Amino acid sequence: MERKSIFLLLLFLPSLTFSLISSPPRPNLCHPDDEKVLLKIKDYFHNTSLFSTWIPHTDCCKWRIVSCKKIPKTTIHRVNFLEIDGADDLVGTIPPLIADLPYLETLIFRLLPNLTGPIPQAIARLPHLKFVLLNWNNLTGPIPDYFSKLTNLATLGLNNNQLTGPIPAYLGRLPKLQGLDLYDNHLTGPIPDSFGSFKAGSQVTLSNNMLSGPIPRSLGKVNFSIFEAAGNQLTGDASFLFGECKTELAHLDLSRNKLSFDLSKVVMPVGQLESNLLVLRLENNMIYGKLPAWLGQASLLYDFNVSYNQLFGPIPTVGGKLQEFDPSSFSHNKGLCGSPLPPCKQGRPGSIELFALAQERASL
Ligand SMILES: *[C@@H]1O[C@H](CO)[C@@H](O)[C@H](O)[C@H]1NC(C)=O
Ligand SMILES: *[C@@H]1O[C@H](CO)[C@@H](O)[C@H](O)[C@H]1NC(C)=O
Ligand SMILES: *[C@@H]1O[C@H](CO)[C@@H](O)[C@H](O)[C@H]1NC(C)=O
Ligand SMILES: *[C@@H]1O[C@H](CO)[C@@H](O)[C@H](O)[C@H]1NC(C)=O
Ligand SMILES: *[C@@H]1O[C@H](CO)[C@@H](O)[C@H](O)[C@H]1NC(C)=O
Repeated sequence: MERKSIFLLLLFLPSLTFSLISSPPRPNLCHPDDEKVLLKIKDYFHNTSLFSTWIPHTDCCKWRIVSCKKIPKTTIHRVNFLEIDGADDLVGTIPPLIADLPYLETLIFRLLPNLTGPIPQAIARLPHLKFVLLNWNNLTGPIPDYFSKLTNLATLGLNNNQLTGPIPAYLGRLPKLQGLDLYDNHLTGPIPDSFGSFKAGSQVTLSNNMLSGPIPRSLGKVNFSIFEAAGNQLTGDASFLFGECKTELAHLDLSRNKLSFDLSKVVMPVGQLESNLLVLRLENNMIYGKLPAWLGQASLLYDFNVSYNQLFGPIPTVGGKLQEFDPSSFSHNKGLCGSPLPPCKQGRPGSIELFALAQERASL
């Protein structure tokens, strides 16, 4: 039976390939409305080289940086993907015309140094958008309120622009949003309380802005996979972001802030020691207390820095992980000692604890 079918397949294979080669060219799938809009966008950007394959009356679904998708239960194909990226000679603002591509799911404008001005309100008219990257441009103005209408949005990248104003609270409540990159802008104000509504596995990057105030405690309820808020002016406690129950956490970067909390409080129960932690950066804050012993057992950790804080006491040796890092990962603290730093002062038993206690009192 099996052998017979293989034989039949071999018999038909030559004619099958022949028919594929000689089949007539694929019909033009481009929807005329989409072609019209794309050609207007090409014209809007003065026909720059990026659009050289966008030739009228050819299949726009095959044009560079464009893709189409079959609308379910029809034979109609509509443009669902547009990626305009990496062109210095593209000058101007994001054209409101994009809202006339109503089936867009992916919209990318990135690496365009001469793309300026605000994010147009027209984007709110694209309800199917799932993936929006408007990053590495020179966009200005606030993060618009009208993104709140994009309830299918899963990824929003607005990083590396010149955006100003606060982080809107609705971003924490978009039901499907799991990736949010806002790093390298000029955003001000606090991290919204609503960020406690992000789903498990979310990746949120807010580094290099001018965010201030304490990190809301609500964020302690979230199993972030990545949380980065380095290079801001955040204050107070952050111990609730890692340790116990934060089993999905891979990257935590809170460096270069004004955070002040007792690192000894961050515990990890024995049963959870198989953490996913790869990156833990806390340098340049006002964090005090001791390094918790479990850090030495975080076997995947490869980027670790707690320098320029107020930590004291011996660097944990159980597990041996912390001894793999450069001394500069531990430098400029109140009294960290032991490998890879110089050995703790030898003295009568308990002197390290007394020293630590004195340090702790001094820091209060
Ligand atoms: C761009 O090309 C179209 C033809 O595809 C032409 O009609 C239009 O005038 C051109 N625009 C510019 C600004 O060169
Ligand atoms: C666009 O950006 C590049 C790099 O920032 C710059 O050299 C160039 O002069 C800009 N203007 C135009 C019209 O290409
Ligand atoms: C923004 O514009 C400046 C000045 O033209 C340029 O140097 C910079 O590279 C641009 N930013 C980005 C992210 O392209
Ligand atoms: C994170 O997820 C793990 C299971 O994947 C769960 O055991 C833990 O309670 C969760 N933590 C939080 C803070 O929800
Ligand atoms: C740790 O951070 C400090 C302060 O920014 C820096 O000087 C040092 O090189 C860093 N060490 C490592 C190993 O990244």
